Amino acid sequence: MEYSPNIRRIAINTGGGDAPGLNAVLRAATLAALTNGWEVFGIRRGYMGLLNDEVDGEPGMLRLGAEQVRGITHLGGTILGTTSRGNLFGLEPRQPDGTWGPTDPSEDIMGRFRELGIDALIAIGGDGSLKIAHRLFLKGLRVVGVPKTIDNDLGATDMTFGFQTAVDVATEAIGRLHSTAEAHQRVMVAQVMGRHTGWIALESGLAGGADVILIPEIPYSLDRIVAKIQERDAARRRFSIIVVAEGAVPAGGSPSYLGETGRYGGIAERLADEIAAATGKETRTLTLGHIQRGGSPVPYDRNLALRFGAAAVHAVERGNFGSMVALQGKSVRSVPLGDAVNDIKRVPVDGEVVRTARRLGVSLGD
Ligand code: F6P
Repeated sequence: MEYSPNIRRIAINTGGGDAPGLNAVLRAATLAALTNGWEVFGIRRGYMGLLNDEVDGEPGMLRLGAEQVRGITHLGGTILGTTSRGNLFGLEPRQPDGTWGPTDPSEDIMGRFRELGIDALIAIGGDGSLKIAHRLFLKGLRVVGVPKTIDNDLGATDMTFGFQTAVDVATEAIGRLHSTAEAHQRVMVAQVMGRHTGWIALESGLAGGADVILIPEIPYSLDRIVAKIQERDAARRRFSIIVVAEGAVPAGGSPSYLGETGRYGGIAERLADEIAAATGKETRTLTLGHIQRGGSPVPYDRNLALRFGAAAVHAVERGNFGSMVALQGKSVRSVPLGDAVNDIKRVPVDGEVVRTARRLGVSLGD
């Protein structure tokens, strides 16, 4: 095997929202790098630990050896911590006077990597963190990306780790709604995560036996949802389960946001009120929230994360920088990071899974 000649020390970080499987990536990448005789440093909380000697009273950089990554494959969260408030090249952080000020600490970051003698960075992130990693690559940092998000919305990879665990949690919850919905003849509206895409809603809704699945890619009409509920009532199925992606949008309308935060929220309550008013039926809501991201990764995510971690080290060995590891078909490959971060993967509206849902009589709200 051809080794990149001058790698002695690498760093790894985890940025953005956590996803089950992060620790498995850290373990695999660390063990593979140690096998190559490299030193490995974990950066705490995104880039914070690089720019600050201490983070939360701990050293900003954590030396990773076999001891530090022992027994963590099954653990949720990340032993390095993360932050989703670190848009380094945007308008954060908030300035002392309360305004948002432009910041670009990339020179500081590059300088710190040089000072610490770090030869390459493995950046584990979703599209925000990988965009930052790509910017650093363009400035000369040797970077390999690893795609992470429960939303499964990153282009160039068939699957991100964390997604299957989120689908598992959501499916279990949706399944549990059936009996109580039936007992009370209610309409239950379950809101799941997914940001701008409907992957979690579609897969958990289908697996959990939802009657209506609403995803951002297919704008919904309240009339169509009401028609489905009434059709079920007429067939003496006097309860209905609706799974709605947090970013779902009514035709001609806009998504629901949590105040001015720019984060999605509130669509379940909005729909439940509208359905109650239109049908006279009792409605209840469930917003699953962060339990979709917490806890132990399912075996699929553990294995994908381990494969990604080992493949990222292999990409560093080959000097394949500015790349991202990705699942394509059954194989893990390297793809250009720039392409990957510019390509949000949305649910194909006439794809096979959507068509399957329709054939089963599930309403997509259109
Ligand atoms: O991107 C992952 C995700 O969980 C989205 O599904 C969700 O919209 C968002 O993060 C929630 O972010 P936060 O943890 O900052 O509330």
